[in-house]
Amino acid sequence: MGLYIAIDGGSSRSAGLLAREDLRVLHRASAGCANYHIVGADGAEKTLLTLIESLCAAGGVSPKEIEGFCFALSGVSRPADLRSIEGILRRHLLHKKSKVISDAEAALVGGTSRGVGIVVISGTGSVVFGKNRACKTKKVSGHGHLIGDPGSGYDLGIRALRAILASAEGRVGKTKLTSNVLGALSLSTQDDVVPWLYSQPDLKKVVARLAPTVIATAAQEHDPVAGEILRSATEELAGLVAFTATCLDLTQEPFDVVLSGGVFLNNPAYFSLMQSSLSAKISVANPIRPENDPAFGALVSLLGRPASSQEEEDENPFPPGAR
Ligand SMILES: Nc1ncnc2c1ncn2[C@@H]1O[C@H](COP(=O)(O)OP(=O)(O)OP(=O)(O)O)[C@@H](O)[C@H]1O
Ligand SMILES: [Mg+2]
Repeated sequence: MGLYIAIDGGSSRSAGLLAREDLRVLHRASAGCANYHIVGADGAEKTLLTLIESLCAAGGVSPKEIEGFCFALSGVSRPADLRSIEGILRRHLLHKKSKVISDAEAALVGGTSRGVGIVVISGTGSVVFGKNRACKTKKVSGHGHLIGDPGSGYDLGIRALRAILASAEGRVGKTKLTSNVLGALSLSTQDDVVPWLYSQPDLKKVVARLAPTVIATAAQEHDPVAGEILRSATEELAGLVAFTATCLDLTQEPFDVVLSGGVFLNNPAYFSLMQSSLSAKISVANPIRPENDPAFGALVSLLGRPASSQEEEDENPFPPGAR
């Protein structure tokens, strides 16, 4: 039976799997950033090759024996992105049945077996992507941290850093974000924030790592400044979902909204706040945790979904946090 590799390439972490054509997953592996806007074409290629080599080594096969690849990549949504990535991959990998899709498309395919609905990814970055019964798709936002990844880990982190500086100037009240975020970054005072920020080579990733601290400060310490950051971030995401649903004519009947990505899936308080923001905005939206992860969605996107698919693991083969 032929072997296939599917990869969810993210801005902090990339996850890959080796599977048979009946969708039985044999091995999984992870690596670093595969977003070519962040690490460049060479960096993305290196991450993908590392993952492929790990998966092939685990399966005892050579990459030439793989029947096909699906690369579901963060930062790939425009035709020019696709051309760049396909150019890179053609050198090594696009020799057989292969495709490149966005990570958002894979997250929707993996996230709901209904095949239609909307996915919201909040990971290092964010994006909203939907598909209706007529196979019309719509991607909204997700333009990267410099111009728009609302509600993402990066967005929560940068809003918290802004709030700390505003608080130091007296523009907003005192906030526990100051001690919690400075502590998380091992900085002594708010004066250290700006020099730290501007000297980070992995800016997006290190700022996104602050998201759990921001969420905990709101949810466990009831800090109003942190609470307002979460409320406005989830309201903005819910607004993007409402817009996407309208564009795709999804609002006549209930539809799934898959909440995917490391920030939603590792932080229950943020997941529930997003559920509330969605319910307030769109009564027919049904927020769900992903049924399967985006790497599995990429596999299904490549091979189709058979009537009965079987997983190697006995129970919960795709824990919700496994992106
Ligand atoms: N164990 C954890 N506890 C709390 N938050 C976490 C945990 N793991 C990840 N996160 C949050 O999720 C973010 C990473 O999410 P994810 O792995 O989905 O991103 P990615 O796939 O690398 O990036 P992209 O947004 O480009 O897809 C981290 O920056 C952090 O904010
Ligand atoms: Mg991702």
